[in-house]
Amino acid sequence: MLNIALPKGRLGEQVYDAFERAGFPCPSIREDSRRLIFTNPEADVSYFWVKPSDVAIYVERGAADVGVVGKDILLELEPEVYELLDLNVGKCRMAVAALKGWQDNTQYTLRVATKFRRIAKQYYHSIGRNIDIIHLNGSIELAPILGLSDVIVDIVETGTTLRENNLEVVETIVPISARLIANRANFKFKTEPIERLVRELSKGTEQTL
Ligand code: PRP
Repeated sequence: MLNIALPKGRLGEQVYDAFERAGFPCPSIREDSRRLIFTNPEADVSYFWVKPSDVAIYVERGAADVGVVGKDILLELEPEVYELLDLNVGKCRMAVAALKGWQDNTQYTLRVATKFRRIAKQYYHSIGRNIDIIHLNGSIELAPILGLSDVIVDIVETGTTLRENNLEVVETIVPISARLIANRANFKFKTEPIERLVRELSKGTEQTL
C-alpha cells in the first residue's frame, strides 16, 4: 500500500488527477465529503488530504510514503526527504516586494515581513544586507502599507494581490512549483511503486529532477 499526502485545495485536486492518470486511482476521493483518508485496495493506494504546509512533515516522519509540496515549503523547512520530481504545476515565484517607487537605503537595517524566515534570511545573507525579520502568518502585503516593514518576502502568483495593494516586485528570489517528495526510509522498501509513480508522472510533466 502506497500512502500519499496531497495538499488540500485546488492544487491537490489537480495533482490527484495526475496520480490517477499515472495508474494510482482512488475514485472515492472525488466524492464531496469531509473525509480526509481515501483508500483503494485494488490499486494498493491510500490518499490523505493534508494542509499544504504540513505535507512535508507527514512525509518526513513516514506517516505518508510520498507527498506533493511546494518548493517554497521545502526551502523553508528543509525537511529530510527525497525530492523526486518537479510536477510543473502550482507555479509561482518567491519575491521581494515593496510599495511602488520604494528605494532601499542601505544605511538602515531593512525590515522584512514574511512567513518565510529561512528563505528571507538566506537571500539577504547572500547579498550581504542586514535585516530585521518580522514574522507574520498571512496578509503579508499589509505590512509595508502600515509601515510595519520596508519590504515583504512572499509568494507572487498572478501579481493581483500586489497590484491591488499598490505594491510591486523588487526582486525575484526563486521560482516555485509543486514537487513530489518521498520518505527516505520508506523509499527503500517501496522502491518499485514509488519509481513507477515517478516514471508515470514524469510522462505528464516536462522534467524530472
Ligand atoms: C498568497 C501570497 C499572496 C498571494 C499571491 O497568499 O501570500 O498574498 O497568494 O497571489 P497573487 O499574486 O495571485 O495575488 P494566500 O492566498 O496563500 O494567503 P495568505 O495571505 O494567508 O498568505
